[in-house]
Parts: sequence; structure tokens; C-alpha cells
Amino acid sequence: MADVSRRAFLKTSGAVLGLSATGAGVLGLAGCAAASKDAPSEGVGSDAGKAGEESLKVKLCACSPTGNTLAAGLVLANYLSDDVEVIDQTSYQSRMKKIDFEPTDLVIMIGSTIAGRTVEVDNLFTNLKGSDTPCIAAACFGNRKAEMTASLIADTAKANGFNVIGGIEIVTDHTLGRFLGHGRPDSDDRAAIQEFADSIKEKIASGSLEPVTIVGDESCYENYNPKGTIYRSTTTKEYYPDNCIKCGTCAQECTAGAIDATTLEIDEDVCVHCQRCTYVCRHQGRYFFPASEFEQGEHYWSRKDVVVHL
Ligand SMILES: Cc1cc2nc3c(=O)[nH]c(=O)nc-3n(C[C@H](O)[C@H](O)[C@H](O)COP(=O)(O)O)c2cc1C
Ligand code: SF4
Ligand code: SF4
Repeated sequence: MADVSRRAFLKTSGAVLGLSATGAGVLGLAGCAAASKDAPSEGVGSDAGKAGEESLKVKLCACSPTGNTLAAGLVLANYLSDDVEVIDQTSYQSRMKKIDFEPTDLVIMIGSTIAGRTVEVDNLFTNLKGSDTPCIAAACFGNRKAEMTASLIADTAKANGFNVIGGIEIVTDHTLGRFLGHGRPDSDDRAAIQEFADSIKEKIASGSLEPVTIVGDESCYENYNPKGTIYRSTTTKEYYPDNCIKCGTCAQECTAGAIDATTLEIDEDVCVHCQRCTYVCRHQGRYFFPASEFEQGEHYWSRKDVVVHL
């Protein structure tokens, strides 16, 4: 067996919340017993979730290759309600299924930022169908910027029958560097997330579910290319055939459907460099080595805060 130690920082947020690294573990979170429960859960008078009679029915739809985004989504979801269901949208297969939502649901669509936008994969939230269902468009980002992420998620939601009543951008650990966004969301972030959740609950209680417009910053289209050489060179994935037991988990869980289930080869033209394959492998078969500038923190941007759209 090759002598390689598993990168702990990739697991940080999931570990804090007691999440499993496996996709099955993520799916097994329906009901969210593992999540923080310090959020208020008073009854919310509303059209969504039945006025004042019971908690909002929050459906947390998360595409979260390495667990950071799911963990941040759970913080928000648990500030909104005790009644939270996780709908995992990370693997290629999970996004194939069409899911219908009721007008009484409150849906959170949450995804991470890759090169300033949503992860470039097929069917990101497009098979989720609303029925004038209230929705929060949520983006996570690794302390650089979520230029287009929330606005792209909002556009998808609107096109599929959801009423986007709020948006939020949450700072999380950066997958590619241990110094970027480390330990986020922290207590200040959580306070901002709770304040946002309270505003959403007030909005729902008021019965006036005005949609919000989230304007993105298109500069990322000029500056970054998610599938380009910068990410290929800064996110090296190593495969250790001696360690690999050919379980196929990485292929099943790949966010982009880029791993051949038989040969386990990665199609680099399809890969989005999200590192889920290294995150789910339990046998030290796949590893991720960030480029030295990420490792050494040369890309250290000044602290960014949670951004809300109300
Ligand atoms: C290839 C790649 C590109 C990224 N690009 C950005 C970016 O442009 N801006 C940013 O702030 N964070 C960026 N991030 C950081 C992620 O948005 C962040 O770490 C997120 O929490 C990932 O969590 P998840 O894997 O659970 O979705 C990038 C991460 C990866 C892997
Ligand atoms: S690399 Fe890891 S997850 Fe993929 S098949 Fe091998 S042991 Fe399984
Ligand atoms: S092969 Fe690429 S797209 Fe698939 S999980 Fe690994 S890094 Fe993500």
C-alpha cells in the first residue's frame, strides 16, 4: 500500500457536523439529526408550511462535492425549521430523478462556487420542479467570491416553478487550500445566517412572498474557466492502483459523471475538479494535492462576509 496520509482538511466541515464522508451518509441525513439544533424553531405563520400551525417544511437540496456546502446549508435550514429533509443532488445519478415540490414547502437550493459560478455539471437543480414553491437560492464560496453562483441558481429555480424569495452567499472552507475560508461559517457567519433566516420567516409570516432579483457579477466569465488548465494544474488528482479495491464508489459518486465505472479512468474534459472522488474514497485510492500556492496560502484573500439578498 502506498504510504499516503488522508488529507484531513477536506473533511473538516463534515466532521464537525458528524457527517459521513460517503454519499450514502449524505443521503442518510434526511431529517437532519446530525445538524446543529441551536436555531429557533417557533411556529411560523405562513402560507408556506401552513400558517402558524406547524414548522416550515424545509427541503434542503444540496450539491456538495466535499460536504462543505451541505454543512452550511444545514446551518441555514436548522435556523429556519425543525422539519428539514435533505435531498442530495451531488452525484450525476442523483440529479437524474425528477422531484416535485408543494407550494407549502420551503426549498433551499444550495451549491458551491467553482470559478465564480455554479459547478458546470448536467441537470444542476433542473429536475427539481416547483409549484410556485418558495425557494432560497444559496451559494457557498471559499472566501474569494461567488460572482454568479446565487444568481444562476435563482435563474434555474425560477425557470422550474419556484418563487425565489431570498438569496444568500456563505463563506466556507476552500477545497483547494487550507488557509482559505478555514473554519467558516464561524460564529459571526452563523449570526448573519440566523438573521437572514429570521427575515425569511418574517417574510413568510407576512404572507407577502415578493420575489427577489439576484444580480451576478459576470466578470468571472472572463477571468476564470472552470474546466481550463488553471484547475487542471492546481488540483492534481492522483490514483493509487495498489490501494484501490475497485469498489466503484468514486465512479458512482462523481459529481460530473466523469469516471468510467469499468476502467475507473477520469475523462478530464468532463471533470470539474471538485475533488468529490478523493473525498468519498475510503481506501486511499484517490488523492488530491493542491498546488503549492494554495498549500502555502499565497492566494489569501481578505476576509469576506456572508452576503444576503432579500
Ligand atoms: C475547482 C474549484 C474552484 C473553486 N472556485 C472558487 C471561486 O471561484 N471562488 C471561491 O470563493 N471559492 C471557490 N472554490 C471553493 C468552493 O466554493 C468551496 O470550497 C466550497 O465550500 C466547496 O464545498 P463543497 O465541495 O461541499 O461544495 C472552488 C473550489 C474548487 C474545488
Ligand atoms: S479509487 Fe477508491 S472509491 Fe474509487 S474504486 Fe478505488 S477504492 Fe473505490
Ligand atoms: S473526477 Fe472530477 S468531477 Fe468527478 S468527482 Fe473527481 S474531481 Fe469531481
